[in-house]
Amino acid sequence: MIIEPKTRGFICLTAHPTGCEQNVLNQIEYVKQRPIKNGPKKVLVIGASTGFGLASRITAAYGSNAASIGAFFEKPPSEGRPASPGWYNSAAFETQAHKDGLYAKSINGDAFSNEIKKQTIDLIKADLGDIDLLVYSLASPVRTHPETGERFKSVLKPIGQTFTDNTVDFHTGEVKEISIAPGTEDDIKNTVAVMGGEDWQMWIDALKSAGVLSEDFKTVAYSYIGPSLTEAVYRKGTIGRAKDHLEATAFKITDALKDINGQAYVSVNKALVTQASSAIPVIPLYISLLYKVMKEEGVHEGCIEQIERLFNARLYAENLELDDAGRIRIDDWEMRDDIQAKVLELWKQATTETLPNIGDLKGYETDFYNLFGFKVDGVDYDKDVNEMVDIPGLQ
Ligand code: NAI
Ligand code: NA
Repeated sequence: MIIEPKTRGFICLTAHPTGCEQNVLNQIEYVKQRPIKNGPKKVLVIGASTGFGLASRITAAYGSNAASIGAFFEKPPSEGRPASPGWYNSAAFETQAHKDGLYAKSINGDAFSNEIKKQTIDLIKADLGDIDLLVYSLASPVRTHPETGERFKSVLKPIGQTFTDNTVDFHTGEVKEISIAPGTEDDIKNTVAVMGGEDWQMWIDALKSAGVLSEDFKTVAYSYIGPSLTEAVYRKGTIGRAKDHLEATAFKITDALKDINGQAYVSVNKALVTQASSAIPVIPLYISLLYKVMKEEGVHEGCIEQIERLFNARLYAENLELDDAGRIRIDDWEMRDDIQAKVLELWKQATTETLPNIGDLKGYETDFYNLFGFKVDGVDYDKDVNEMVDIPGLQ
């Protein structure tokens, strides 16, 4: 079939297998040039199909010859209906990994559930024995609690007072003011239940009791801080409370892993266009200005550049360069004073008329379409493509 993008607000309902494949191959090429000394060998990535998680899987596999199990929640294709992009990404990754002699298998389902945890542990036992790295890169709007069956929904709201500022609709380029009413105590509780650290801890507990964590095991989860501009709606909002909880969980996990000399880390990553971040108000305008400034300064990175640097310059380097709160910072270039001063200056000038010049709306839009395999360089979109793609290592 011929597959075209079908967008609804900040999501795209279709995905292109060839474009997704090309994105994955480009990431593999990038990492192959940058091998990791003493890197991971047996890796589980939760949230492995898109964004930072996919980049983590590719970095471990192609930077360090790691065997990888990817867990994710993606929609398979049906006749005439393309799969979700993470499905095609995983198919492309595992096809290439198998060609290159790398172990790569995957599990598609709700990682919050006990069933998926059990299935994953069984697979580790059968095939790998144990793992030395778990990357926790899940981003989800909902979670069903495995013990109580309660269903939580996360929300992106400020706390305490209404937040009002500009955002951009990147499809139309229109800059307009939005107001978001503050979240309730329940909103905070629900968002922490979905995006906080409880499920990360549950994974570790389950893996540890099953005896499938190696000596010197490491685990890393991803967080975000960002500038004062987005603070009220992000870091000091409901999602920020979840990130506080995630960060606190890292210390608890490290304590629980003492006997195997294990370590849990949080890495604070850069703001990037992913399916998760496109849904956050104000962030698209911030990202379009940030991209412009970082590209001009020659320090722009995408997911693969970020994660390759995380592994090579922090996680598997001599010095992790932890901040005062014990976190890894690969948002260091985003947060540079000169970069932030320029973004703040541009923020004050941003209107529908000025944004095409002062911001990188084109870059934002291209990255957005690329997430779904569209507008990827070198792909012929007029060519008939088979939507019924299998993931070769899918269990
Ligand atoms: P993403 O939307 O690209 O990836 C989410 C992944 O989680 C996908 O693999 C998806 O299949 C999987 N997933 C979702 N629900 C699932 C479920 N119930 N069971 C199993 N898998 C499930 O998101 P992104 O942006 O890569 O986010 C990953 C982490 O990085 C999040 O914790 C996010 O807060 C963090 N982060 C994101 C930043 C950004 O700007 N995008 C910046 C800094 C941190
Ligand atoms: Na991810």
